[in-house]
Amino acid sequence: MNPLYIPVILGSVRRGRQSPRVARFLAERLRRTGRVETEILDLAEYDFPIMEERLHQRDDPPPGLREFASRLARADGIVIVAPEYNNGYPGVLKNALDYFHPEYKRKPVGIATVSSGAFGGLNCLAQLRLVMFNLGAAPIPAAFPVPRVQDNFDEEGNPREPMFEKWAEDFLNELLWFTEAFTARKRPDR
Ligand SMILES: Cc1cc2nc3c(=O)[nH]c(=O)nc-3n(C[C@H](O)[C@H](O)[C@H](O)COP(=O)(O)O)c2cc1C
Repeated sequence: MNPLYIPVILGSVRRGRQSPRVARFLAERLRRTGRVETEILDLAEYDFPIMEERLHQRDDPPPGLREFASRLARADGIVIVAPEYNNGYPGVLKNALDYFHPEYKRKPVGIATVSSGAFGGLNCLAQLRLVMFNLGAAPIPAAFPVPRVQDNFDEEGNPREPMFEKWAEDFLNELLWFTEAFTARKRPDR
């Protein structure tokens, strides 16, 4: 059976950012399932300009946009790693999300939020779920909120507390359940 393709969108471009630790961790745990092809789609590398119009409405897309779109379109499911800024998600992430629409349709989306504080970015999580609904995606009920990221993960993406392994396993199992279910409906011959 073909592996599922579940890319991880890294929604932080801040200098000295911590969110890559969580993106690396989740991408590695997805790989370890043996059922998933994944990669990190790093918005810092794409560096999209401010959105003037959505991709499907323009014939002069900025560099990298079509390539990013083809990865989203191919995705069976998506993980988003978003840091919490002022109770919301970063503008750079909203900018990137707004470029696309059909690419997200009926895609299960697992949201991981990152914070240096105690609550793991729960306000960011709630807001991002609303955004994903409007894009036609299916944000899953499970989430992966990471509090005190600077203490709880090292730079390579290794958790310093064993509980994150169990939480990630539960989160990713849920995402895989929804992704398998949606994919079976869309690609029964997979
Ligand atoms: C502009 C800004 C606003 C922030 N607002 C919040 C907040 O509302 N709640 C919170 O828990 N942490 C907040 N933080 C702390 C971030 O969660 C923390 O810096 C975390 O590391 C962000 O991920 P990043 O390192 O990938 O940028 C804020 C940080 C920045 C830079």
